Amino acid sequence: MTVKKLWGGRFEKTAEQWVDEFGASIHFDKQLVEEDIEGSVAHVTMLGKCGILTGEESEKIKDGLVHLLQKAKKGELEFSVQYEDIHLNIEKQLIDLIGPVGGKLHTGRSRNDQVATDTHLYLRNQVKEILEYIRALQGALVKQAEIHVETVFPGYTHLQRAQPVSFAHHLLAYFWMLNRDYARMQESLKRINVSPLGAGALAGTTFPIDREYTAELLGFESVYNNSLDAVSDRDFILEFLSNASILMMHLSRFCEELILWSTSEFNFVEIDDTFATGSSIMPQKKNPDMAELIRGKTGRVYGSLFGLLTVMKGTPLAYNKDFQEDKEGMFDAVKTVKGSLKIFAGMIETLNVKTDVLEKTVKSDFSNATELADYLATKGMPFREAHEVVGKLVLTCIQRGIYLLDLSLDDYKQASDLFEKDIYDVLQPQTVVARRNSLGGTGFAQVKLALEQAKEALGK
Ligand code: ARG
Repeated sequence: MTVKKLWGGRFEKTAEQWVDEFGASIHFDKQLVEEDIEGSVAHVTMLGKCGILTGEESEKIKDGLVHLLQKAKKGELEFSVQYEDIHLNIEKQLIDLIGPVGGKLHTGRSRNDQVATDTHLYLRNQVKEILEYIRALQGALVKQAEIHVETVFPGYTHLQRAQPVSFAHHLLAYFWMLNRDYARMQESLKRINVSPLGAGALAGTTFPIDREYTAELLGFESVYNNSLDAVSDRDFILEFLSNASILMMHLSRFCEELILWSTSEFNFVEIDDTFATGSSIMPQKKNPDMAELIRGKTGRVYGSLFGLLTVMKGTPLAYNKDFQEDKEGMFDAVKTVKGSLKIFAGMIETLNVKTDVLEKTVKSDFSNATELADYLATKGMPFREAHEVVGKLVLTCIQRGIYLLDLSLDDYKQASDLFEKDIYDVLQPQTVVARRNSLGGTGFAQVKLALEQAKEALGK
């Protein structure tokens, strides 16, 4: 037997339990309980102020709602699938608590503007928290970068050794990506922090409501100025999911690097024990599970974005029940992004950078070859020609199984008489990095400047 629905007047039959279960959203939208009550308090306060309910009715409903909120915070509210979603569950409990006057709460409102309001409130709060998580990770990057300004690190293109860089420069590259993620999330608040409340089911209401007043009570910056739009778009969630996807893509790339760097083939870093796990069979194993998981979880955030884009694409104005499918992906993305940012910050803070290995590594490659070509070009040789000369020298080295620093001055002179013995200094990895002092380059002086800019961005 199912209970009588709050909307059951025009129905002759009650739905069966299994159908109710399919239609219900309470098992996930119960996460919106606080936002739902907060929205209702604002709504009923407005109803009182506008004389739509008496002051006494409004106060009584408000007290009831506050009581339910306190219970909710203690986890003492029980929800039932019979009442479909968080909105009807709260309304039912209110009526049970304060009597029929509770039924006046829904005057001049629909679940359509109510659910949109709840979701806007929820996402606003979550995005604000995510902004703090991003800042914390940026702070961890800056701390590591400060330690490693002069740590020379192999820079890659095509995953082939290219030119050495300061490790701090590499870390700060992610700092700036995250800074844009921060800016995007912050910018999106403008569109999230808008009130749909008072749009009614789709067309507004006959009651003399005050939408600006409820918006103000809820801390919204503005109100939707079209009631159909207010209840029927979910672009603010899509915007969040796409910003979250870009953010996760950044984290995922960094994870991929951490995973590579901690292999015995690279051996550049060691992830702290706290963020790694062992194997149940191979005693020697230390697996970078957390980094792999963040990389993997990126997929589910993309999935939520594509899921909701697909949900929305064929829906006519205004509200459609399809929209109920907006929430699980959003909740999941929020949880995933927060969790990933937190783990990542911990991983960066505790990362052990193997400077001794790096020092040897950057000496055993040809990543100083550009330097040699620049050397000749500075002395007047056309760069294209210099490229050819150095290319030949690299080939000679490969054939002899040595590196550029191992060639004799005679070898160099034979290749070009522009070479002098100062090339041995020019070819040192430290010098190679230090001299790339163009704006935004990896030269130590530039990196120090960039660190200052990064700290400034963090307000430090
Ligand atoms: N649970 C619904 C949702 O999440 C709430 C709005 C229901 N509105 C309606 N007219 N059925 O979208």
